This record gives sequence, structure tokens and C-alpha cells, in this order.
Amino acid sequence: MMRLSYRSPKTEVRESKIHGRGLFATADIAKDEIVAVKGGHIVDRKTLREKITPRLGPVEIQIDDDLFIVPVTQEERESSMLYSNHSCDANIGMRGEITFVAMRNVRSGEELTHDWAMTDDDDYFVECKCGAPNCRKILTGKDWQRSDLQKRYAGYFSAYLARKIAMVNIRR
Ligand SMILES: C[S@@+](CC[C@H](N)C(=O)[O-])C[C@H]1O[C@@H](n2cnc3c(N)ncnc32)[C@H](O)[C@@H]1O
Ligand SMILES: [Zn+2]
Repeated sequence: MMRLSYRSPKTEVRESKIHGRGLFATADIAKDEIVAVKGGHIVDRKTLREKITPRLGPVEIQIDDDLFIVPVTQEERESSMLYSNHSCDANIGMRGEITFVAMRNVRSGEELTHDWAMTDDDDYFVECKCGAPNCRKILTGKDWQRSDLQKRYAGYFSAYLARKIAMVNIRR
């Protein structure tokens, strides 16, 4: 089967100290270089919650208020997963809604992590295990609204969140 997602040949999936398996650089990666592109099917939140997550676990990336990209079968799961864990000191971010790029130069061997604040608009609270000195400890699905994170990740939010942030700031 053709892979649904793209992972740069400069990456590999292996065990992570953050959680389960993670995505790692196997060579130096330059700032703004493409690290991965998420592929799969497009489903709404109801389908994600009722039909996908119970069977396949956390496999999605959010691409709009009510739209997510997911694998839909166990067979597709492996070829759609990127294995990028969350870190509060992330080194990859978004270009558009499905493309992950390096936010700084990354050295071979580093784990490639994104911050869910850059992709998610949801209602969850999750305990973070990233271990970064600046760890927020509790992550929420509304972290994209934090002005410190908006500054930190400017230019690397998912396009749909960048539009929301711009609209909120215009109204201020
Ligand atoms: C798409 S998976 C990432 C790959 C995952 N490590 C694996 O082996 O399948 C996302 C899940 O990883 C876990 N995870 C990732 N980063 C985390 C973090 N910083 N703190 C706690 N759990 C995390 C959570 O269970 C989350 O739902
Ligand atoms: Zn953290």
C-alpha cells in the first residue's frame, strides 16, 4: 500500500522519552525544511469521536474547526501516523494545515516535536510529559489563545488557527 503520509528521509520513528514512539531526525534538518506531510481521509469531529478514536486512538491532525485528517482502518494507521509527540519546547511547526516544517535548525538525533497549541482548537485538558524546562504541565485545547504562545510560534500556526488569531487581533 502507498503511504498516506510523507515523512522526510531524514527522519525515523523510534522509542521516545516523552511517550511511546516519537519522530527523530537522522540527519541535520535546516530551518523551514519539510519534515512531514499528513495524509489520510477528512472527517468531522463527530466521526472522529465516535468512529475513529475508539478504534484507532489518537491518530488525527486538526485542519479546521470541525475537520480532521485521519486513517480510517487499522491497515491505514501505520502509513498515516507521523509519531510526532507534543513538546512545550517544540522544534517543528506548520506550513499550511498538513505540512510540518522545522522552526529552527535541528541536529541529527533530536526528537521532532510540535506543540499542540499550533494545531488544536478543542476542549481537552491533558497532563504534559514533555520534560522541557518551560513545560506548561497542563495542556489545553485552547492554548492557541495564549498571547505568549502566539508570539513564540508566530508564522508556524496551522493556517486555520493563524486566521482565527488574526481575526481576534483585528477586533481588539
Ligand atoms: C499521535 S500520538 C504520538 C505518537 C505516540 N507517542 C505513539 O507512540 O503512538 C499522540 C499521543 O501521544 C501522547 N503524547 C504525545 N506527546 C505527549 C506529551 N508531551 N505528554 C503526554 N502525552 C503525550 C498522548 O497520548 C497523545 O494522545
Ligand atoms: Zn510540556
